[in-house]
Amino acid sequence: MYRIVVLPGDGIGPEVTREAVKVLEAIGRRYGHRFEFVEDLIGGICIDQHGTALRPETIARCRRAAAVLLGAVGGPKWDDPRAAVRPEQGLLGLRKALKVYANLRPVKVYPELVGASPLRADLLDGVDFVVVRELTGGLYFGKPKRQWEAADGPRAVDTCLYRASEIERVLRVGYALAAARRKKLTSVDKANVLATSQLWRRVALRLAGEHPDVQTEHQLVDSCAMALLTRPRDFDVLVMDNMFGDILTDEAAALAGSLGVMPSASLGDGRLGVYEPIHGTAPDIAGKGIANPLGSILSAALLLRHSLGLESEAQAVESAVATVLRDGRRTADLARPGEAVTSTTAMGDAVVAAIEAPVGAGRWGGAGSL
Ligand code: IPM
Ligand code: MG
Repeated sequence: MYRIVVLPGDGIGPEVTREAVKVLEAIGRRYGHRFEFVEDLIGGICIDQHGTALRPETIARCRRAAAVLLGAVGGPKWDDPRAAVRPEQGLLGLRKALKVYANLRPVKVYPELVGASPLRADLLDGVDFVVVRELTGGLYFGKPKRQWEAADGPRAVDTCLYRASEIERVLRVGYALAAARRKKLTSVDKANVLATSQLWRRVALRLAGEHPDVQTEHQLVDSCAMALLTRPRDFDVLVMDNMFGDILTDEAAALAGSLGVMPSASLGDGRLGVYEPIHGTAPDIAGKGIANPLGSILSAALLLRHSLGLESEAQAVESAVATVLRDGRRTADLARPGEAVTSTTAMGDAVVAAIEAPVGAGRWGGAGSL
């Protein structure tokens, strides 16, 4: 029995997470696993009910679980830039408390979605890389971090702080991944300007020496931002700090066709991980039943792989997603003008049906579907 804490959060979070839970239940039925889902609050909904974005008892519950499945947090209701309590504090607090310092964001272009990307099809064929974003340090967490009134007007400061040990451990996650993939690692920094990036570069150079089997390159974040769009096929594993990773992974979503299909896994030293789509709460479409649940469903696949060690089950989910896309299922974010639009729940149902389809029935014939 695997206990999974489910934190749906705000906006479209609950809608997409429900579909991912449905898919995990289908996997449980098919492969004979029992999942116990424990739902809890995070973000704006938690502020409304408890005055804080994340409660200590929720953190304790997550620590005891096999994995955490998260939706998204935030929304206009809690967006006052001067508010002391913000939904995002829940998410950042959870990452920090669970020490999930490595955020894996795979970027894979499904052939069926090439047309949904604004980029030229010939650039996209075969794109398959993973961004490893440092998740518990840097600008997001450094102190001081505040706004104040100075004699010459309002001021604000954020602090980017990194210890060499924090840089090293996340780079090591990148090297482990690269060794099992195409053996190429791109370390991204801004070493021509930032002290933290100079330290990053020093650590990366040392680790590159320890990993002669992996080809290491060092790229400045600005030119890397361009290369991601002009030659995305060249990348295998990219490792970068928290802020750069936040920005470049949204950019990379343009390759995949939609932010809606992008999953993520946040990992630490143990097996416990936090799994969430990289998209936000999309308040404009929340409650309409049209959000794309594939980012959440593919995050559930990463949960099966990384926290539960169930590789075949993870692949079954990923194959099922490929199948429904091949069958022409498109949520509103993916549909082109004139194409039929699949609702959030219908998309989840279609993935479940693909998981339940007998192997060899010609729908997803096992190996090679992804
Ligand atoms: C993400 C999000 C979060 C982040 C926000 C919601 C705090 O953009 O997971 O990429 O910046 O990390
Ligand atoms: Mg982001």
